[in-house]
Amino acid sequence: MLNGAAGRRFLKRRPASPPPSEPPGGGEALRVVDVTKWYGSVQALDRVSMSVDVGEVVALVGDNGAGKSTLVDVIAGVLAPDSGEFYVRGERVAIRSTDDAALFGIRTVHQEHTLADNLDVVENLFLARELHRGVGPLRRLHFASMQQRTWAALSELGISTISDIRAPVEKMSGGQRQTVTVARATLQNYPIVVLDEPTAGLGVAEVQRVLQLILRLRAQGTAIVIVSQNIEEIFEVADRIVVLHLGKVGAVFRRADTTPEAVVGAVMGIA
Ligand SMILES: Nc1ncnc2c1ncn2[C@@H]1O[C@H](COP(=O)(O)OP(=O)(O)OP(=O)(O)O)[C@@H](O)[C@H]1O
Ligand SMILES: [Mg+2]
Repeated sequence: MLNGAAGRRFLKRRPASPPPSEPPGGGEALRVVDVTKWYGSVQALDRVSMSVDVGEVVALVGDNGAGKSTLVDVIAGVLAPDSGEFYVRGERVAIRSTDDAALFGIRTVHQEHTLADNLDVVENLFLARELHRGVGPLRRLHFASMQQRTWAALSELGISTISDIRAPVEKMSGGQRQTVTVARATLQNYPIVVLDEPTAGLGVAEVQRVLQLILRLRAQGTAIVIVSQNIEEIFEVADRIVVLHLGKVGAVFRRADTTPEAVVGAVMGIA
């Protein structure tokens, strides 16, 4: 099994982001096996197994309290499961921290978004990944290039609702903040991206932009897990749909072979 230190070597052997030419469907990116998690006497996850392939979008759906965010937090290294195994590109790994998850190429956007309130859009987008120029004592943050890339990312996303990228994000609306969070995840070229309800609370146009972005990541070979309660948007982007019901995998569907009614039935536990 690989731990964090071995993970660094592991990533050296494998590119952090697949080349854009890698065809979608190029093998398994992430698999979790028999993940169990208790919160005191509440069992949030009961031997949950699922996987996502390179260039695949897997939607994780389920009612409130079904265990979706718990599973996301476990994959992100935020929560330690009581039991369970993880495999990244077929190799068993130990995800014990968010740093471990990042080393194995997993980028998570949590349901409670994690922006630094006192920083502006540019700083948030490049948090801990600042661009520098020069070396040694002459090393400086390359603000001009970070600003340029921020504008490029926002315009690529079609985001015109953010006019001042140097204003602290605490002054922004919920939808604007959320858009910044998703933009950040896409700038970083992680091979596995996990998004917990990235479209919740967004306006109609913003939802479409986020879905377009997900499809673009997919075309680049990114493996994507998206948590969503919105069956319509799931049918727009997902290749497979994993339904969690009371902490268990209730059903797995291929989008092409199912109907919204069947998925809703499984969510309600009546399939
Ligand atoms: N920190 C916690 N302490 C105790 N119980 C928790 C905690 N977080 C979640 N739970 C419980 O675990 C179960 C799964 O919660 P989880 O947040 O994973 O559900 P979810 O599917 O993400 O729901 P939602 O759609 O509302 O976001 C629920 O019964 C919830 O009450
Ligand atoms: Mg949740």
